[in-house]
Amino acid sequence: MSENQFYLSQYKPGGERFLPEKVWIFDTTLRDGEQMPGVTYTIDEKVLIAQQLDELRVPRIEAGFPITSPGETEAVKRIAALGLDAQVVALSRPLKEDVDRALECDVPYIHIFISTSDLHIETMMKTTREDVLRSAVEGIEYAKEHGVFVEFSPQDATRTDMGYLVEICKAAEDAGAEMLNIPDTVGVMTPRMTFDFFKELKAQTRVPLSAHAHNDLGQATANTLASIEAGAEQAHVCINGLGERAGNTSLEEVVVCLAAQYEVETGINTKKIAETSSLVERLSGVYMPPSTPIIGDNAFAHEAGIHVHGLLSHSGNYEILRPEFVGKRSRIVAGKHAGRHGISSMLDDLGLEPTREQLKAVAAEVKKLGDTGKVVSDSDLYAIAKNVMDITADDRVKLKQLLVVTGNTITPTASATLLVDGVEYKGSGVGNGPIDSAINAIRNVVNGFANITLEKFSMKAITGGTDAVADVTVAVRRGEKMVTANSVNGDTVMASVEAILKGMNRLLVESNK
Ligand code: KIV
Ligand code: ZN
Repeated sequence: MSENQFYLSQYKPGGERFLPEKVWIFDTTLRDGEQMPGVTYTIDEKVLIAQQLDELRVPRIEAGFPITSPGETEAVKRIAALGLDAQVVALSRPLKEDVDRALECDVPYIHIFISTSDLHIETMMKTTREDVLRSAVEGIEYAKEHGVFVEFSPQDATRTDMGYLVEICKAAEDAGAEMLNIPDTVGVMTPRMTFDFFKELKAQTRVPLSAHAHNDLGQATANTLASIEAGAEQAHVCINGLGERAGNTSLEEVVVCLAAQYEVETGINTKKIAETSSLVERLSGVYMPPSTPIIGDNAFAHEAGIHVHGLLSHSGNYEILRPEFVGKRSRIVAGKHAGRHGISSMLDDLGLEPTREQLKAVAAEVKKLGDTGKVVSDSDLYAIAKNVMDITADDRVKLKQLLVVTGNTITPTASATLLVDGVEYKGSGVGNGPIDSAINAIRNVVNGFANITLEKFSMKAITGGTDAVADVTVAVRRGEKMVTANSVNGDTVMASVEAILKGMNRLLVESNK
């Protein structure tokens, strides 16, 4: 069978759809995404993310809410001055001081919001529907006088009385708003409700509608797609679905669904999705669970024997799209569910050619290890194969000595002496803790001859108490090749260093072949 881009259901749903030809992706990672508890970026980090979003070809980037702080104003100013292809947007209440602050940032696009549900109006703002409407109109008119594009959001729209919602949306249009964004602020909708809600609003308004869905009930992507089926022309999204509470709609999910399920154009360079997600993970400190759709570590990883056999016969058997479409790669993982096809393919990848008998023995050892509850890393598989196949190849990098100094008055510092192919090299590193400094010291030595990056690092305590045994798993990359490695040690620093060295050795042994 030839290769298609997507392998989806052939079932065609009935019912009405009002799909636009193109959907504008409005990314709010730097505004709503940063409102997620625990997430905060420096100005330089915001600039980096904005540049990455521009490479992803996001057409609209909400850079921040300038009135909230001088740093936020500065960040929006710097992003607006980058000369990106994307339109840079600033959030504002419909207040003169807010709009002035947004204008000071020199953005071409202002997003004005005010709450419209009776709950918010009465209990939070302690005002009236009439005052809210008057304020919205004044704010929009004031922004329009300064020649910017204006988007209006009636906050908590989905808990707003429909009659009043239509009234304020029409007043906003008359005041000059060119886009009506309909926020499901606390994520109370279902897809069916969203479709009807947007259909009704679309019938009563003139300017394009936009969706802004929160994920409180896990429906954000489904609701956003439902609003697009009802004719919405813009979707508010965040990288990795970050955002207030349970987050916003994930850019990755919406963009891939629009391409795969609806054949609707977004202009996004999907090949940059994985890279953008990793950057936001690193800078936000919020790492996605492995099972996260599209960008999670396991989204294109396969362990079970039948699945791997199917995948190796034709990727479409167990992958609905080629991982390269979103900048990822398929991964076959060793473990107790693995079959011989999978193990054979992994060994082939490691440059090893076992006989039938050796392959059988390696598979049996892998299952035995998996049955003990252990995750079988690439370096474990290599160690098993080396043993079974009687390979005597030595590790190229060995730790001779490691010294780590830390304390409350000094920067954690480490010095490492390594034997690389039998020759002694020394290096040092600093970091934000003893583990970080030790890993940096080792990287500084090894990077003298091979560029190896640490892609993932995770540590579990497998016993309780302050003397807990640490179980460290890392993924390290050299060019296109990424391998996982694992180590268990009562000393957290040593567990980390051993795991990194195992991974590095795996990459370096292969490069020798
Ligand atoms: O969720 C929300 O209502 C918002 C508005 C500011 C649009 O983020
Ligand atoms: Zn929001």
